Amino acid sequence: MEEYIKLIDVRKEFKLGENIIKAVNEIDLSMGKGDMLRITGRSGSGKSTLLNLMAGLEEATSGEIIIDGSHIEKMNERERIRYRRKNIGFIFQSYNLLPQYTALENVALPLILRGVDTKKREEMAKEIMEQVGIYSHASHKPNEMSGGQQQRVGIARALVTSPPIVFADEPTGNLDTKTSEEVMELLLKLFNKKRTTFILVSHDEETKDYIEKTIHLEDGEIINSKFSKGENH
Ligand SMILES: Nc1ncnc2c1ncn2[C@@H]1O[C@H](COP(=O)(O)OP(=O)(O)OP(=O)(O)O)[C@@H](O)[C@H]1O
Ligand SMILES: [Mg+2]
Repeated sequence: MEEYIKLIDVRKEFKLGENIIKAVNEIDLSMGKGDMLRITGRSGSGKSTLLNLMAGLEEATSGEIIIDGSHIEKMNERERIRYRRKNIGFIFQSYNLLPQYTALENVALPLILRGVDTKKREEMAKEIMEQVGIYSHASHKPNEMSGGQQQRVGIARALVTSPPIVFADEPTGNLDTKTSEEVMELLLKLFNKKRTTFILVSHDEETKDYIEKTIHLEDGEIINSKFSKGENH
């Protein structure tokens, strides 16, 4: 199998006074391009920390994180930022939209960071918002939209740069069952089309209907893996 993402004995420790918290411990993982992975585990089991390590948002205490041939753990801060902007889309549970900006402005934000000019930004934001079914709300501010609508804006913002890898941390955590289903179906449709590699943190039992390949974390360690095609590890 082509290895697109590989983690070797990855650990993340936090020091709190005298105590050392092993937030992520001895994680080995590999994924091919276009694979999807679901991460489950109780609150505090290390799911977000693992995601943040893979996204280059936090530095590992030890271990190797190799993504598309690049060692994330060897990058300095600037290189990590560049890696993130180029490769990663992030979808959050609480949407994390900027309240003072319209939906379209929120979606276009990652393009500003990439130096895309205004006209092109609006075109690209419009295109992804149409695909995600939220362009009708382009001029709405976040507080003028429902949770499901805000999450569609969050998804459009994560995907506007066409990142090859998308991380989502409980993206349906604040949505009702029906809206959650719609959001998951939308994500999978978009990702299958583009062969996006997708890593989802979810407490939700229902999300396993969409992504069978699951790792379960306890105290920062993988204690249980279920793989549909037996292609991992
Ligand atoms: N910046 C930090 N400083 C100290 N400890 C931290 C820090 N970030 C996380 N931790 C600890 O690491 C462990 C894992 O936290 P993490 O946020 O990854 O859990 P989680 O599985 O995402 O939980 P939840 O489902 O509640 O979001 C917890 O014990 C947490 O208290
Ligand atoms: Mg978390």
